[in-house]
Amino acid sequence: MALAYAHADAFEVRLDLLRVTDLSRLFSFARRPVVATCRPAREGGGFRGSERSRKQLLDVASALGAAFVDVEWSAGKEFLREFLQRREECGVIVSHHLTPGEKSMQAEWYRRLVATGADVVKYAYHAADLADCATAFDFLARARRDRRRAIAIGMGVHGELTRILYRKFGGWATYASADIGPAAAPGQIPARTLKEVFRAHRLTPATRVFGVLGNPVAQSKGYFMHNAHFEHCGANAVYCRFPVTDLDRFMKRLMPLFHGCSVTLPYKQAIMQYADVVEPRAAAMGAVNTLIRTRAGLRALNTDAPAALDAIERYLKVRGRRFLVLGAGGAARAVVFEAVRRGAVVVIANRTAEKAEALAHEAGASVVPWRTAHRDAAEVVVNTTPVGMVPRVGRTPLTEVPSRARVILDAVYNPPETRFLRQARKRGMRTISGVEWYLNQAIEQARLYSGTAPRRAFLARVLGRHLEIR
Ligand code: ATR
Repeated sequence: MALAYAHADAFEVRLDLLRVTDLSRLFSFARRPVVATCRPAREGGGFRGSERSRKQLLDVASALGAAFVDVEWSAGKEFLREFLQRREECGVIVSHHLTPGEKSMQAEWYRRLVATGADVVKYAYHAADLADCATAFDFLARARRDRRRAIAIGMGVHGELTRILYRKFGGWATYASADIGPAAAPGQIPARTLKEVFRAHRLTPATRVFGVLGNPVAQSKGYFMHNAHFEHCGANAVYCRFPVTDLDRFMKRLMPLFHGCSVTLPYKQAIMQYADVVEPRAAAMGAVNTLIRTRAGLRALNTDAPAALDAIERYLKVRGRRFLVLGAGGAARAVVFEAVRRGAVVVIANRTAEKAEALAHEAGASVVPWRTAHRDAAEVVVNTTPVGMVPRVGRTPLTEVPSRARVILDAVYNPPETRFLRQARKRGMRTISGVEWYLNQAIEQARLYSGTAPRRAFLARVLGRHLEIR
């Protein structure tokens, strides 16, 4: 409790999980309103005693000044009645927790829970897929129409959005974990993160929702930067994580409620079919990294490619220059198309020659052999392969840096200076790290999401704080 004082508005005391003999002392430590819960095993809790002893425990908690008791609908009318009669002294949350395999029937449960006369209705279930969060949002929307206090939680890692966005959909409260120690439930976010990073307690129905869509997205650092920027420029917006496994379901069930997203692997191509407008540049390169809701519908664009080329153009004009691109995957694709569009002469070298040839053919570039690429006369070299990334930091994509190169860009951002970049810098070449590239594309996205361009140094500082560089 002491750890969470700064961030908790109330404490839930799980009588079914605690071994405390002196409840009165525990309650006096709380210094915040207490919600007393004694979850029976049948609803996923830890209490295995009789219903009578369970009720006694809740009675004690209520006599000791708990602000609310949480009582399961399944406890039955009689069990509930006594608590409801005393609700002037202690409020009643009537809850239902779906057991695994139980059908959702969210609307029916809403009706049943409300019919008890509870002060707060609570519905919890296991979210097996991100789109299952829609169940909680529907439940809350119903309660909001009826002006009722409600809590709806999707348990598990896929339910994270229900904990962050509760206010957006009219929810009364959410549950968070204390800053350290095991979370009380999977998917619970520390109270401090919920408030300081996501500002969850300040979201409103008008809040615009953004996020990073991909699989996996757990390692993504974008939410630190975008949320910091929203806060800084006063935008009523929030940036979450969308770990999507079923793209179609997500786009149909959840995306209509949201306002845009950053798109990452493996959906940069698949996402295009859902856009109403695809920017010509993104359509040509066949890859999208940003989706944004506009009056004309969902607009898809690519900020990856211009971010790389703008960084290079800070040092030299691209038109007419010879570019050597290493790799032929998604990142190479973005760079090759944009470089050709800006008038560069592009050659591609890839370990698997056929992939280089296919990309070159499509984009109007040519191919050089992977083994002799270090002898190329290119003035700009872009590495899009993962070679040199942690943990194998001693490796470089080429045996040496092409001698006529003036600018080298490496897509690898961890470490920020790869061995390849270090070699180039020592030879007096201009070097651009993957961190800079990442930052550049994020700046453009932040401007699109908020309408205000963030200061580069500001975002760099936020990113620096959260990158675990080794
Ligand atoms: P991204 O979308 O980030 O560009 P990708 O599509 O997986 O990722 O592409 C990775 C690129 O790095 C590929 O061109 C790959 O070469 P192959 O086409 O031969 O697979 C290249 N790559 C990956 N590991 C490599 C290595 N150890 N040495 C050389 N090239 C490598």
